[in-house]
Amino acid sequence: MKKLILAIESSCDETAMTIIDTNKKILANKIFSQADFFENYGGVIPELASRMHVDNIFYLFEEVLSIANIEIKDIDYICVTAGPGLIGSLLVGINFANSLAQLYNIPIIPINHMQGHIYAINDLEQMQFPHLSLVVSGGHTDLVYLDKTLNFELLGSTLDDACGESYDKIAKLLDLGYPGGPKIEQLANIGANNIDFPLPLNDQSFNFSFSGLKSACFNYVNQAKMKKKNIKKEDIATSFEASIKNILLNKLKLAIAEKQPKQISIVGGVSNNKNIVKYLQEHVGEILIPNKGLSSDNSLMIALVGIEKIRNNDINYNKYINAIPNITVEYDWGTNAK
Ligand code: KG4
Ligand code: ZN
Repeated sequence: MKKLILAIESSCDETAMTIIDTNKKILANKIFSQADFFENYGGVIPELASRMHVDNIFYLFEEVLSIANIEIKDIDYICVTAGPGLIGSLLVGINFANSLAQLYNIPIIPINHMQGHIYAINDLEQMQFPHLSLVVSGGHTDLVYLDKTLNFELLGSTLDDACGESYDKIAKLLDLGYPGGPKIEQLANIGANNIDFPLPLNDQSFNFSFSGLKSACFNYVNQAKMKKKNIKKEDIATSFEASIKNILLNKLKLAIAEKQPKQISIVGGVSNNKNIVKYLQEHVGEILIPNKGLSSDNSLMIALVGIEKIRNNDINYNKYINAIPNITVEYDWGTNAK
């Protein structure tokens, strides 16, 4: 019998809620993004983000109930992001979920945000296994392998900055505002790849490094300023993005050779980048990306992990849950927990 789920996401600067049934019929799906507010700050300020979640979460809750035309007592499960993320932001969603769960006696299912990014491709069709996922977001850059559903193996991750974070830092360097990804992508389309930026950690490991590339961009700009030379922002963007594309491609190829996956996906905020996706697809063949609106943080992806857990009976129910800000994609609260 189908059940109704309320999913809540508040791990960074998006407050989001979804009401969906276990057959994946969406009754309501709303996101309030704080990105416009943080545009002039050059990045998210954690304390302000959590305060804004507090301001928005109750209105969002009323709105999704009204769109779905249901009452809270109709909800069978609450799924909420419990980590990784900004602690203050996570706690707003978690505390809200705990209170509803206690008041209305609804089972609560903690969800790993990184698993959510991967299951974002699962909204219309079921993903196939063995599956290889490249998770590229503002906080993470992970290569993840799943031999079967809900069994996550972290092959490698970034040793320093995340891929999206490096976009944001280069955008700040070039005074383009936050988030940097879309702005750099736009400029990269009109510039020339004529600056020789490095490919850090271009080795046989599955790990990534982006800080050397970031430093090379900063040095290039600083030296140009010292020599009073004009810089072409669009050429920096194109050359920077060329290095990013090649780093991602090299690591993806290594993982494909080792794991021979049946299906490959690229997920997380950076998978909004058409240049990167096209480049990777040209070189390794079919790669799935999330449907519109599901690459960046959202609560539908959190619900999709929850549905999979319910279907697989992979849940340990708790009376209440707490935030764990620094977990990897492998961390789980379910019966499969490692
Ligand atoms: O997954 P996400 O929404 O949030 C995190 O969990 O981090 O990812 C946000 C990141 C930001 O760093 C943003 O600059 C990057 O995704 N991003 C992009 C693009 N759109 C968003 N990076 C490159 N190209 C884009 N078009
Ligand atoms: Zn995310």
